[in-house]
Amino acid sequence: MAYNLLKGKRGIIFGALDENSIAWKTALSVHAEGGKFVLTNAPIALRMGQLKTLAEETGSEIIPADATNEEELKDLVEKSMEILGGKIDFVLHSIGMSINVRKGRSYMDEDYKFTQKGWDVSALSFHKVMQSLYKMDAMNEWGSIVALTYMAAQRTFPDYNDMADNKAYLESVARSFGYFFGKEKKVRVNTISQSPTATTAGQGIKGFTGFINYAEKMSPLGNATAQDCADYTITLFSDLTRKVTMQNLFHDGGFSNTGVSQEVIDEFDN
Ligand SMILES: NC(=O)c1ccc[n+]([C@@H]2O[C@H](COP(=O)([O-])OP(=O)(O)OC[C@H]3O[C@@H](n4cnc5c(N)ncnc54)[C@H](O)[C@@H]3O)[C@@H](O)[C@H]2O)c1
Repeated sequence: MAYNLLKGKRGIIFGALDENSIAWKTALSVHAEGGKFVLTNAPIALRMGQLKTLAEETGSEIIPADATNEEELKDLVEKSMEILGGKIDFVLHSIGMSINVRKGRSYMDEDYKFTQKGWDVSALSFHKVMQSLYKMDAMNEWGSIVALTYMAAQRTFPDYNDMADNKAYLESVARSFGYFFGKEKKVRVNTISQSPTATTAGQGIKGFTGFINYAEKMSPLGNATAQDCADYTITLFSDLTRKVTMQNLFHDGGFSNTGVSQEVIDEFDN
């Protein structure tokens, strides 16, 4: 059901790769709510991906940008304002990648070149995106910036590997930049800490099936899906959450505050 919550708002959506991506579902929901946006992803992902389909479906343009490259980000922000006809109201940072995870290197055997690249892509890129927007004065007052994160930033999940450290950094950047963006431009910055979700990035984590099934059994409301995450993000982009900022918002069916569930006790009660 759509409520026209984003009518007249303009945005940039990073990270839609395929129809499972959280950013893909979010783009469709933003479109349904009346928002206009530019879609962006790394040039290599655009070559492999199916983003054109989403662009056609939502009447959006695609601007390639590697989120670690400051020049490309500047170009993206400039072109987005031209295409959309004004300053930006909402931004979704839905980007994550660990080369250590991809190459099967454990946390106890990191290749630090991989670690640095993964940190740049998954964490520092959020600062780079916001610094570009800030310096170019590209955000409208009461705009909203959201990045996606995972609870491994607070608690240990062994196979989440160096992504746990990247997410801790990402959440800290949201608080720190949120202060300055709030004070000087009235822009809010938050992270959504999402349940495990079956996407390309999610399924790259070792033992993902066990991980997602366990979370499902531990969450009173069940895992939040990618579509649930899109719905929640819409509220954060809307004018109904203007004073929510510098928060890490758990969106996980209650997982983060559950010590143990009856289903999990039953598994061990024999
Ligand atoms: N899937 C999960 O279980 C889960 C849970 C919590 C949080 N998250 C987070 O949600 C976000 C979106 O991931 P997803 O699960 O939709 O997976 P996804 O694989 O569909 O999306 C990740 C995106 O990051 C993009 N990307 C990688 N390198 C980039 C670069 N240099 N510049 C620009 N974009 C780049 C990829 O092309 C891809 O579109 C990530 O931050 C992820 O960590 C995912």
